[in-house]
Amino acid sequence: MTAFVVTPTGRPLSGRVTAPGDKSIGHRALLFSALAEQPIRISGLGGGADNGRTAKAITQLGARVERDGADLIVRGRGWRDLDEPSAPIDCGNSGTTIRLLTGLLAGQPFGSELFGDASLSKRPMARVIEPLRLMGAKIRGERDERDERDVLPPLTITAAPGRLKARDHTLAIASAQVKTALLLAGLYADGPSLIREPYQSRDHSENLLAAMGAPIRARGPEVLFDPTGWDGRLGLDRIVVPGDPSSAAFMLAAALVAGVGDGGVTVTEVNPNPTRAGFFDALTAMGWTAPMRDHVTHYRGEGATTITVEGAPPSLRGARIAGELTVRAIDEIPILSALAAFAEGETVIDDAGELRVKESDRIATTVAMLRGFGVEAEARGEGLVIVGRGRRTLRAAQVDSAGDHRIAMSATVLALVADGPSRIEDVANVATSYPGFVDALRGLGADLRVEP
Ligand code: S3P
Repeated sequence: MTAFVVTPTGRPLSGRVTAPGDKSIGHRALLFSALAEQPIRISGLGGGADNGRTAKAITQLGARVERDGADLIVRGRGWRDLDEPSAPIDCGNSGTTIRLLTGLLAGQPFGSELFGDASLSKRPMARVIEPLRLMGAKIRGERDERDERDVLPPLTITAAPGRLKARDHTLAIASAQVKTALLLAGLYADGPSLIREPYQSRDHSENLLAAMGAPIRARGPEVLFDPTGWDGRLGLDRIVVPGDPSSAAFMLAAALVAGVGDGGVTVTEVNPNPTRAGFFDALTAMGWTAPMRDHVTHYRGEGATTITVEGAPPSLRGARIAGELTVRAIDEIPILSALAAFAEGETVIDDAGELRVKESDRIATTVAMLRGFGVEAEARGEGLVIVGRGRRTLRAAQVDSAGDHRIAMSATVLALVADGPSRIEDVANVATSYPGFVDALRGLGADLRVEP
């Protein structure tokens, strides 16, 4: 298993990083392009392994994917004319791939099977299967020994005998993966679909489907897909995938933690979509507001901005992150927790029970990571509490990332300012979301070695 060895240099970081293409939007760009009848050029994909799983999956459904320089061209079959996959679809480590595909495949006139790696095989699927069953889909999975009401991959989807039953769905948890699965299943339903969430999750599917011509109307946590009178056409000449704020967060956090030299640290191409901007809003509550400039719009709802960290490291204060803010920062909780270690006072993160079922149990792995560096932290209720220690140096650590990319990258940021070299184990999964992470951090001046 691969490890990172991080040796603090005592020098501030400086330079410029381009945020890699957004992983969430990359999945949607690929999958939705496969549903179009005309070719779609996709620019700016991040190159992570998770998006690679979705790219492979759409070829199993009949789409052709061609490389053209840095772009991909997807030649889809149209959503009414997908191919029956000749083999089970391997979703790897990617929860978004398996959940979105489950929704898409639920209404097909052919059967299919979906599976993933050891981590994905422990992730709950009832949240997507249950509402699809209410639409008439037939999906089987494995029993979950830890929770008998849940279902785990591999999943077997039976051919739908006809159209699915259209429904109004009220979700118990805010989930963009479930919302998107239900929108995709809604294509094959006999009427409009309405999806209501307790808080609005990321709206990338609504934005892209609407840009492609789908009759989607979103009002905060409510989304309506009403195909009445729609000609069924989905298309767009080109999709530009904006940079990933979740990946950018690690570079910005590194700059905030290690300090910056002349010219600062600039991260370009950061998508400021408010449904993903919880990291920035939480940081504002902690005392630092990211300056955003040079905003461009790629299509309605998605775009890119440039953020520079300059000057002396800001004084951070503990904050409470809960409710809708937690939803909008859900993938950034490990790195926000790392930043909370440098704040004055306690940071309380609540309403984050979803973290228990991410690539690792991120409440447990975040707490273990922080404690490894000598930071006081504990799991509490539906979240965790971090006791800030101001700018005091951390203790060098040996951290097991538990195969979780966001834990590995958060630990690397903490290790930049420890009192000696730290070792972060089991980091190969960084390539699922941010294959350029090591080069980007080295480019800013960090001493980071990869050991096999
Ligand atoms: C994602 C949605 C979020 C997020 C995940 C990607 C997506 O999960 O944590 O990393 O692309 O839709 P949920 O939808 O389960 O909240």
